[in-house]
Amino acid sequence: MQATLEIAERISTISVSSTMKVAADADRLRREGVDVVDFGAGEPDFPTPQNIKQAAIDALAANFTKYTPAGGTQELREAICARHKADFGTNYSVPECLVTVGGKHAIFNLMEALINPGDEVVIPVPYWVTYKDVVNYAGGISVFVDTDEKSGFEVTAALLEKHLTAKTKLVIVNSPSNPSGAVVPESEFLKIFELTSKRGIYLLTDECYCHFLYDGSPFSIAAAPNAKETVLVAGSLSKTYAMTGWRIGFALAPAPIITAMMKLQSHSTSNPTSFAQKGAVEAMKGPQSSIPTMLAEYRRRRDFVIDRLRQIEGVSILTPKGAFYAYPNISVAYQSGKVKNSLDFAGQLLSNSHVAVVPGEAFGTSDHIRISYATSIHELERGLDRLHKFIDGVRA
Ligand SMILES: Cc1ncc(COP(=O)(O)O)c(C=O)c1O
Repeated sequence: MQATLEIAERISTISVSSTMKVAADADRLRREGVDVVDFGAGEPDFPTPQNIKQAAIDALAANFTKYTPAGGTQELREAICARHKADFGTNYSVPECLVTVGGKHAIFNLMEALINPGDEVVIPVPYWVTYKDVVNYAGGISVFVDTDEKSGFEVTAALLEKHLTAKTKLVIVNSPSNPSGAVVPESEFLKIFELTSKRGIYLLTDECYCHFLYDGSPFSIAAAPNAKETVLVAGSLSKTYAMTGWRIGFALAPAPIITAMMKLQSHSTSNPTSFAQKGAVEAMKGPQSSIPTMLAEYRRRRDFVIDRLRQIEGVSILTPKGAFYAYPNISVAYQSGKVKNSLDFAGQLLSNSHVAVVPGEAFGTSDHIRISYATSIHELERGLDRLHKFIDGVRA
């Protein structure tokens, strides 16, 4: 007898990641021989630094190719705690640290370990695509908090407070933000921490882009006094060390939460790849000079992109304070009726002008597109020329 194809209901609580969809559509066009300029990919175009690659090569040569403990090697967990301490002045120990298969996996495991059905999770808008899906998957309820574009998509304690209820379990803050590049200043982050901790609400800080800050020094709210009780850190080596394909991330959290996450991990992925962990140890312990080098280049590209976007009539753009994304408001393109929304905008821009961007709908706003400037100035120039012409065309 043939089995009926019936996908489990919980899968219907999540949707295909829009950023991945854009990548797939752009890829399809490229395979057809179309010259696509890709502003969709949220990943550094730099290679992984040589010393990190060499450490993994050496690990392979030394047959470091077996299982490791599910939560990562002691060596890497120690190195992550030491790096976080050196960078931000925190004080985590190995039982409070878990190595995961990328930062996304840390966030997924955290949600699975913490959220009960009906728990509310507060998510500022615009948000990184994955948050709401992993909250849904865990049976939680996403409570979206609109930030104001005019005040730079700022996430503030006052704004968040209005959305806290007796059911709030967790608040997520991603600073610098993907997609807007907005940064929560340290003083405001402290207010957010005070607000959440006094109510016994967890504060998840997604530090994926924490080293890519254009003004001021990087900081972690986990370094605040008593923060370790309620602050949960999701970290990633993907962007900081141009290691997206290595799939190494981490969580720093109270030991019982780490233990719960590790239990889940031991029955799902088991350990992150053994030799990738050796590369990660080198990333944590070796020279950190690749970070300022990449940041300087991102700054140059940011300034170029912002300048070019400001030359397009009707388009408004805030200067990103961190990460490597521009999030222009392109709603001027809707006025003639030729374009309906940002999904339509991104679709037409890809099929007519062969530029891949991610529509704002993916991040919870409908008037924007996300442009990743983690690509060369040459590509940025080509793509922005096309974008400019496209907008002039649909506005007319
Ligand atoms: C805000 C944010 N958090 C976390 C991640 C996860 O990165 P990874 O799973 O590659 O470590 C990303 C990746 O795009 C991101 O943009």
